[in-house]
Amino acid sequence: MKKSAGYQPISVPEARLDELFEVVQWAFVGEWLLEDRQDYVDALPVERARALEVTDPSRGEVGEIAAVHASFGTEMITPGGRRVPTAGLSWLSVHPAHRRRGLMTAMMHDHFSRCKERGEAVSALYAMEAAIYSRFGYGMGAQTVKAEIPRGSAMWQVEGADDLTVRLVRADFDEHDELVSGLQAKLTRPGTVLNPVGSGRNARFTDPIGNRKGMEKWRLALVEDQGEPVAYAFFRRRADSSVGIHDGVCQVREFGALTPAASRKLWETLTDFDLVGTTYTENLATDDPLLYQLKDARGARSKVIDNLWVRVLDVKKALESREYFHDCDVVFDLHDKHVPENTGLWRIVVTDGNAVVTRAEGAKPDLTMGARHLSTVYLGGTSLEALTAAGLVQEHTAGQARELAVAMMSPVAPLANWDF
Ligand SMILES: CC(C)(COP(=O)(O)OP(=O)(O)OC[C@H]1O[C@@H](n2cnc3c(N)ncnc32)[C@H](O)[C@@H]1OP(=O)(O)O)[C@@H](O)C(=O)NCCC(=O)NCCS
Repeated sequence: MKKSAGYQPISVPEARLDELFEVVQWAFVGEWLLEDRQDYVDALPVERARALEVTDPSRGEVGEIAAVHASFGTEMITPGGRRVPTAGLSWLSVHPAHRRRGLMTAMMHDHFSRCKERGEAVSALYAMEAAIYSRFGYGMGAQTVKAEIPRGSAMWQVEGADDLTVRLVRADFDEHDELVSGLQAKLTRPGTVLNPVGSGRNARFTDPIGNRKGMEKWRLALVEDQGEPVAYAFFRRRADSSVGIHDGVCQVREFGALTPAASRKLWETLTDFDLVGTTYTENLATDDPLLYQLKDARGARSKVIDNLWVRVLDVKKALESREYFHDCDVVFDLHDKHVPENTGLWRIVVTDGNAVVTRAEGAKPDLTMGARHLSTVYLGGTSLEALTAAGLVQEHTAGQARELAVAMMSPVAPLANWDF
């Protein structure tokens, strides 16, 4: 009998959203404010909300929702600036009364099979706890730098930055969605998860009071070049003068800049608000221009943590939807417990940046790896050779781990700039 017996998967109709929200509050340990309800509805991809409902009275009340998840239908930028159809998994919650009965496992399988039906080659997510998702074949596809930048930190001059102008406005979905989505769509950094389609597309603008912790509502800094937007950042501030010294903070959430000058202008603005001593962000790529534009990067008190977790679901489609930076011809033996049709031998032949990926039954493998290792290196932020050196990927033909590693490493570090 399956561990999750006694539950059935359902799609959650709008009329049952409050039951879904109840499970989320139990799982994520929080009591939402009634006035925030619409924000949560706006942030949820409702037509892709799924749940597990109790069918066996020994498990709970029949008909009760025990676990939920949802996903954003989107595209992700891959190395070289190409795109891959992607599901942004989110809202995954199991009510504490139903934990450790295999419900997350059942939901992951539900998610994977629905992604494949929709043609989404990759699933991506942010993890509350970093130890949860590797068992399902997710790998840490991108890392982020958390930084605390003191007010007025000196920066190198960048040509053209002084010619740009900045507008500071309150963030408003109706007024700014098109502008922000348009700017984001011009970014080329791998890992960028583009504005989703369908409901939930205004998730990045929602602003529940219960999450503000004394901060103001989200604002937008818009950098313009003769009226054309070239950078944006969502930010909010909180004053603090408890000891008579004005030492407020500014939080920067999603941001993007199209040019070096736009980045310089954006951060010069975000790190120089009156009454604010520190500007912090969790959304810097490990090679973000800011880290080089600051004269004292160490002064930004930084820490590197995981950003996006990535799961390759359709091996051929995913690998052929990115660019490569070195020719190679490698056969790998893939183990994939949760998407068993991926298991077996694959051959990847790269010529002039493009891959052709085929089944290679009967061939001799150069490498053996698990789905999570392929997923870890997919966005080009981690070297396959490093995973081999760590003993996670096995090399059977000397030098082939390096061949594939060099082909897959991205010249630009991956990062997803909005947190879903
Ligand atoms: C994390 C959570 C989704 C797990 O749900 P669950 O139904 O208890 O998980 P399952 O019973 O399917 O467990 C699957 C496996 O993951 C393991 N696991 C579950 N939670 C884990 C955690 N927090 N850390 C590490 N491993 C975990 C289980 O031990 C189990 O391992 P096994 O297959 O070797 O037995 C659930 O506890 C929850 O909702 N937590 C709070 C919200 C949260 O963290 N959501 C994830 C958001 S990113």
